[in-house]
Amino acid sequence: MTEGAGAVAATALGPVLERLESLVGLAPNDVLVNRLRRAAGLVARLPLDHGGIDHPDWAALLDAVTVQETRMFRAAAQVEVFRAAVLPAIARPGRPVSLVSAGCATGEEAWTLAVVAARAGIEARVLGLDLSRPALEAAVAGRYHLGPPDALREVPAADRALLDIAGGWFEPVAALRPMVAFRRANLLRPDLGPAAADAILCRNVLFYLSQPARDAVVGQLASALRPGGALLLGPTDSPPPGIGLRPWAPGLVGIWRREGGGG
Ligand SMILES: C[S@@+](CC[C@H](N)C(=O)[O-])C[C@H]1O[C@@H](n2cnc3c(N)ncnc32)[C@H](O)[C@@H]1O
Repeated sequence: MTEGAGAVAATALGPVLERLESLVGLAPNDVLVNRLRRAAGLVARLPLDHGGIDHPDWAALLDAVTVQETRMFRAAAQVEVFRAAVLPAIARPGRPVSLVSAGCATGEEAWTLAVVAARAGIEARVLGLDLSRPALEAAVAGRYHLGPPDALREVPAADRALLDIAGGWFEPVAALRPMVAFRRANLLRPDLGPAAADAILCRNVLFYLSQPARDAVVGQLASALRPGGALLLGPTDSPPPGIGLRPWAPGLVGIWRREGGGG
C-alpha cells in the first residue's frame, strides 16, 4: 500500500533506482518511478549504501514496487505446448520431474504446473521463486478469489477437476499440496544449483528488468537446467547468444532447450 504522501523528485530517486537495478535488476522505468513515489515513506528511510534483499527496509520496498499480476494457466496456449510436447520429453522414469516457476508472484503458475503434471500422471516437484514476501505468503496459502474478472478463464474444463471451487474461492486439491514449495529468491542469484531443473518458466518477469539483468537472469536459469531441459519465456523475451540454448522446435516462440541430452 501507499506509504508517505510527500512528492519525491525524480532526481532524488536516482540513487534508489541505481540500487534497485544492481540489487535485483529492476529497470528504472516510469512504472517503477511511480511506485517509488507512492512509497515515499519507505524510500525516505532506505540505507542507500548498504543492505541486500533481506534488509527489512529494502525487503519492504521490494514488496511495494514489484508487480504481481498473474493467473492460473496464464498464456494457456504455451501451457498446452508444455503439456503436449515439453513435459513428455523431460519426464524420466524413476525420478520426479523438477519444475520451477521463476518469478511466481502469488503462485498460480506453480499450481498450474502441478495441475498439468498430475493430470498427465507424471510425478513432479514444483518450486516457486519470488522476491515479494506477501506474494509468497499468498502462494503458500494457495487460496484464491474466483473474481471477477474470472480467475479461471484460461483453465480448461478438465483441469478444473484438480481445483476445489466453492463460495467464490478456489484452491488446488489437497493431493497437489505436497508437490509444490515456494522460496524467496532473487533471480539474479537463484541458488538452484547446476543442472537441477527439468523445466523453468520465467514469464512476464524479464519485462520489468534492465537488459543486462535480463541476460544475467536467463544465464542463471539456463545453467540451472539439465541438458535437454526447457526454459519457457514470454513471447517477446529472447536469451542472449552463447549460453547453450536453442529453440525447442522450429517456429515455436518462447520455449528454449538447453543443449546436450539429445532431442
Ligand atoms: C508479473 S509477475 C509474473 C508472474 C507469473 N510468472 C506469470 O507469468 O503470471 C512478476 C514477478 O516477478 C517477480 N520478480 C521481479 N524481479 C525479480 C527478481 N529479481 N527476483 C525474483 N523475483 C522477481 C516480482 O516480484 C513479481 O512477482
